[in-house]
Amino acid sequence: MPANANTPAPRLTLPRWHDLHAHFRQGELLRPLLRAHAAMGCAGILAMPNTVPPVAKVFPGDAAFDCWSIEEYLRMIRDADGGFDDIIVPLYLSENATPEMISAGAKSGLLRACKYYPPRGTTNAEHGRPLDHYMQNGVFEAMAEHGVVLCLHGEEHGLAPENYFDSAANAETFFYRERAPRLAEKFPDLKIAAEHVSTKAAVDFVLQAGENVAASVTPQHLLYTAGHLLQGCKYHLYCLPLLKFDADRAALRAAVTDPRNTKFFAGTDSAPHARKATDCGCAAGCFTGGVAPQLYAMAFEEAGVDLSAPVGQGIFARFLCCNGPAFYDLPVSKETFTLIKEDRNVASLATPDGNIVTLAEGAGLKTLPWRIA
Ligand code: DOR
Ligand code: ZN
Repeated sequence: MPANANTPAPRLTLPRWHDLHAHFRQGELLRPLLRAHAAMGCAGILAMPNTVPPVAKVFPGDAAFDCWSIEEYLRMIRDADGGFDDIIVPLYLSENATPEMISAGAKSGLLRACKYYPPRGTTNAEHGRPLDHYMQNGVFEAMAEHGVVLCLHGEEHGLAPENYFDSAANAETFFYRERAPRLAEKFPDLKIAAEHVSTKAAVDFVLQAGENVAASVTPQHLLYTAGHLLQGCKYHLYCLPLLKFDADRAALRAAVTDPRNTKFFAGTDSAPHARKATDCGCAAGCFTGGVAPQLYAMAFEEAGVDLSAPVGQGIFARFLCCNGPAFYDLPVSKETFTLIKEDRNVASLATPDGNIVTLAEGAGLKTLPWRIA
């Protein structure tokens, strides 16, 4: 219903939400990026460890190649902005990771999650080792024993271009059809967060797995397909995993809007790149700082959810505010934020690295249909 003088614009008041997958980088970028997240009603964040250098040890004293510890990166985040109730920094799994590091880290309370990056499979992923490495060296065993969540970038690495992105199979479908079932079978107690799922194959894997397996979903994978990226080569829509096909987007929409959804939750994968187009390529990542709840609301409405009705609002709140904290053993925020159904112009974020264009702008939108109160 369009707002006019007589009908107040619909409002959606929700618990402050947790973005359980976002990139805040390092140095002078941290502050503006954290502020953009706080401004969109975030109570908590899971801050990804593919910084430069990566966060690949738990304590500063752990022997390692040039990297930061979780303890150090947490301090950097807190020093840059104290506004979040909950901050989780996963350990970047690399050759450094040992069962002893996992167990000492978990006992200290600093280590809550570990991140698997397919070797060279995405931005700053060159320290990743193949999944089998951790399946065999006791790391996943130690994580399962201590309740440490495995955050999965579920894409097969090193595929030939022909197999990387095909209509019948791609790097993600390969991973969720071939690798993930073996992982779940070998470590039935391991908590697994299938991150930024983009295919029906990944959704199917998560749905048939036990309660210890859940998934985050980004705004871009709910809103767009590969066609949106390719039509006009809108490179601000280029991220990894790549946007997929309509049937994949439909499976994601069905999963997040199912009234019984307990497994799918918000994790934006917001990834700032001040310079997207490089001399002979494109940096992967969609930036959704400041606009993610608005984009998620837009996607739910496109999927047929009526956000002006209590049923629809409940479905949206479960996805945005409840399922994620439940999976990570975090409290749902007691504070609220409000979305109002009013058009708001899109804008980019000024940072010391330059302007960062949001997914909304990059998709060609001039306005968003929701704004944060
Ligand atoms: O699109 C992406 N951008 N995917 C990732 O896995 C990493 C991220 C980044 O750090 O820029
Ligand atoms: Zn990411």
